[in-house]
Amino acid sequence: MASTDRKHANGEDKLVFSLRRERGLASSYLYLFQEFWCPGIAIEGVESFQKYFEAKDSDVVVASFPKTGTTWLIALTFAIVNRKHFSAQNHPLLTSNPHTLVSCLEFKIFCHEIHDPVLHLSTMLEPRLFSTHTPFTALPKSLIQSNAKIIYICRNPFDTFVSAWTYFNKIRSMSLPALELEEAFEMYCDGIVSFGPWWSHMLGYWKESMARPNKVLFLKYEDLKENVNFYVKNIAEFLGCPFTAEEESDGEIESIIELCSFEKMKELEVNISGKLDKFIDNKLFFRKGEIGDWVNYFSPSMINKLSRIIEEKLSGSGLSF
Ligand code: A3P
Repeated sequence: MASTDRKHANGEDKLVFSLRRERGLASSYLYLFQEFWCPGIAIEGVESFQKYFEAKDSDVVVASFPKTGTTWLIALTFAIVNRKHFSAQNHPLLTSNPHTLVSCLEFKIFCHEIHDPVLHLSTMLEPRLFSTHTPFTALPKSLIQSNAKIIYICRNPFDTFVSAWTYFNKIRSMSLPALELEEAFEMYCDGIVSFGPWWSHMLGYWKESMARPNKVLFLKYEDLKENVNFYVKNIAEFLGCPFTAEEESDGEIESIIELCSFEKMKELEVNISGKLDKFIDNKLFFRKGEIGDWVNYFSPSMINKLSRIIEEKLSGSGLSF
């Protein structure tokens, strides 16, 4: 699966050499690849995902821009889809980080540097559940043309920025100085962040959700925070597995919400001391889990600038924050 045929004798990648690159918020470079800013490590994974992924009609893909609530949505989706198999007392989400249970297509499945050899796409139980940060326009045809379902989550760009800046500063290589808020903000405003620009990312999925509402369910982190009960039911209906009256009266929805709540997940031993793929501390996926923390970071000029960009980029789309 690895595209070794395009490597130079010294191991460097010819394609990567030809792409414009910029330092991202993390330590590694971002490359302008297929019109989005792709982390270097994910380029081969995205290409292999596009080339080799064969979607099944029963597949479910949780798509997101990084730091918009991916972890929460994959936990909820995993719990909803598998609710017949596990009890709340003995649930895999109590002992595994959600990213371990739901693998990211361009990283864990198709990136040979991170690939988990025990994962075999053809033998995974159905419905197969995946995550992706790949923009809609770069998804494989097989996924777009199949009846596989996509659930997308986005978040207020102010909170997304703060979440990304704090997260990437923590995973930045120890040898690099911390990235100042102002410098990171300029990159974010220019769209130079992993899988960015963020406005194109959300608009790609937004437009498809308008055109094909049975294919893409478009959610906002803030809406989920305000009424998670409604959206758990909404997700189950969208996936064709609505809660029965009996499940509702048995408190099945509340128990899924409780299992996947920020407070519960953050306190689990696996999310305090565990690591994802041996290098990211699970605890980094759980910071504050709040709406509006950005007010503690933004100056008046930053508020003006980002508000203007949001208005300009989303105007006429029907999407707003
Ligand atoms: P903050 O940094 O604002 O706290 P992602 O999962 O896409 O990386 O997004 C991470 C953001 O989602 C972080 O936001 C994190 O705290 C928040 N988050 C993680 N798990 C959550 C949960 N179960 N409920 C609500 N928010 C959650």
